[in-house]
Amino acid sequence: MSQGASGRARADYGIDGPGTVAGLVVLGGVCLAAAGGMIWSSKIGKLRARDALIDAIPWRGDEQVLDVGCGRGLLLIAAAKHLTIGRAIGIDVWHRRDQADNRPEATWRNARAEGVADRIDVRDADARALPFADNTFDVIVSSLVLHNIHGRAERERAVREIARVLKPGGCVALLDVAHTTEYAQVLEACSLRNIRISRPRWLFFMPARTVTGQKPPPRLDACSPVSSGKEIPMITRRRFAQVSGALALTAIAQQAPIAQRVARA
Ligand SMILES: C[S@@+](CC[C@H](N)C(=O)[O-])C[C@H]1O[C@@H](n2cnc3c(N)ncnc32)[C@H](O)[C@@H]1O
Repeated sequence: MSQGASGRARADYGIDGPGTVAGLVVLGGVCLAAAGGMIWSSKIGKLRARDALIDAIPWRGDEQVLDVGCGRGLLLIAAAKHLTIGRAIGIDVWHRRDQADNRPEATWRNARAEGVADRIDVRDADARALPFADNTFDVIVSSLVLHNIHGRAERERAVREIARVLKPGGCVALLDVAHTTEYAQVLEACSLRNIRISRPRWLFFMPARTVTGQKPPPRLDACSPVSSGKEIPMITRRRFAQVSGALALTAIAQQAPIAQRVARA
């Protein structure tokens, strides 16, 4: 008890609801930490995940690239920086609840700021109905998008669309905080190969993983229906196609450690 000016002890009537107050202080601390974690993920963690994903792709410079759910251009712009004559297209439905100020103008503004506006395009489209012909893109990437699509069947539609517009020999890399095993299974059902799921990287308090895979390259014997008697035996040609496909993804496999080989359904 403290003393007043008169020298007498000053009365102290206590704090009401001490348990509630202590709880609120703890809750406030947790909320502050959570908000800090979200901001760290957006400003630092996500950029690191982007770099790991993009740097693992063996770029040539002439690729046609698709970023599914590009938002303000995180992967789109990073991919465009690796292009010389290639082009990167971002599609999105521009949900503001998923990203602040989410609109094509913001993506274009970022692309101009990063000096790649001449190598990108941005379109309105839903991942579940991609407005592109079959076998259009060499590389398809996506970051933190597909889990926003509700219902397994709807997410499967989106992943099947990605597999459809991927060129034979092309590669896909899908970063997400949920359902990554599901995406891997759908890609496998679409006959993609070398499907891998990376180790988790913590983003927004969730384990983010990248699913990578490759569409098998065209069969080498597809254009030689008439035998000249000098063709490489079929078994050797198949092996060659498998090996060349595997080589294309070697860089991804080396840089994104494999946590799981997708279990066959
Ligand atoms: C969390 S943001 C991520 C944006 C960007 N990929 C990034 O990593 O910064 C999720 C994005 O997915 C988009 N999105 C959600 N559902 C979609 C759908 N069905 N088709 C296309 N984009 C979608 C949202 O509009 C939003 O831009």
